Amino acid sequence: MDTKQLAETARAMVAPGKGILAADESSGTIKKRFDTIDVESTEENRRAYRELLFTTAGIEDHISGVILFDETIRQSTADGTPFATALSEKGIIPGIKVDTGAKQLALAEKGETVTEGLDGLRERLAEYYELGARFAKWRATYVISDTLPSQLAFDVNAQALARYAALCQEADIVPIVEPEVLMQGDHTIDRSDDVTAAAHQALYDELFKHRIFLEGSLLKPNMVLPGYDCKQQVSDEEIAERTVRNFRWNVPAAVPGIVFLSGGQSDEQATARLNEMNKLGPHPWQLSFSYGRALQAPTLKAWKGDASNVGAAQAAFAHRARCNGAARSGSYTAEMEKAA
Ligand code: 13P
Repeated sequence: MDTKQLAETARAMVAPGKGILAADESSGTIKKRFDTIDVESTEENRRAYRELLFTTAGIEDHISGVILFDETIRQSTADGTPFATALSEKGIIPGIKVDTGAKQLALAEKGETVTEGLDGLRERLAEYYELGARFAKWRATYVISDTLPSQLAFDVNAQALARYAALCQEADIVPIVEPEVLMQGDHTIDRSDDVTAAAHQALYDELFKHRIFLEGSLLKPNMVLPGYDCKQQVSDEEIAERTVRNFRWNVPAAVPGIVFLSGGQSDEQATARLNEMNKLGPHPWQLSFSYGRALQAPTLKAWKGDASNVGAAQAAFAHRARCNGAARSGSYTAEMEKAA
């Protein structure tokens, strides 16, 4: 394990003004996204869409890294340049999703999941390193209900995340650990706060036991939000305060960066809330983004699978990248949206 390289990569991924594009939708998820714009999910359409994203001019000013899916890291631009090479040439670090999905936890209550993908991971990581990946992602998910999640779910997922993180660091790949508390449901922000804290406590306990080099890792969490169907919605300022306080209690200062997922918030909400958090800084860690939907939704809509829309789709993507880049320093304003 090259701790110097790991720490440098992790720091570069949360460099000032920059964050991560999550473009690692699995075959099932990208089909769902394409269904919303009536585009068939063929290998060529997926390739063309990812090329549109990765070749957008100027995104390297705001995008430090891109998370790829297994199929995508093996694909190339139309002129034959492998995507990982095309990104690296722009100074963008290629990353790879390595978990194989959340599955029902055996003998547990329905809805309780454990994320799989550890078998053969050492060999897969060695191949991904050869293909250019310098960081990886593993996502655990927790559903909130009256009885879920259980301590067992936190424990088994934290252990899997720690085993994944150790294998990554052994291969000189920075692990992003993602314990996502899902915000579907009518739970309050208090409940979200408690569940998020418990998930992070279990996670950092296991990362410590597994000797993870925290300086060479990143955390990808949910923000502390009320459930989407909760009657008591709260202001962006309250979300920012609650989220930051939760993390000050539960995330070691040795972790260089916290890169939020968007998790179904609108693109503008995800940007505004990150902005509010950074206005409360300085913090012990960089607070940044690793958005999928919140970076891509307007791009998909503008593209619609039509090559003649590539310019407009790239403009939409560049705009969201710029807005989130500004949110890294608390300098995003609503006027930036109108100016676009
Ligand atoms: P969203 O930002 O769309 O939640 O996706 C981020 C991600 O990578 C989830 O694993």
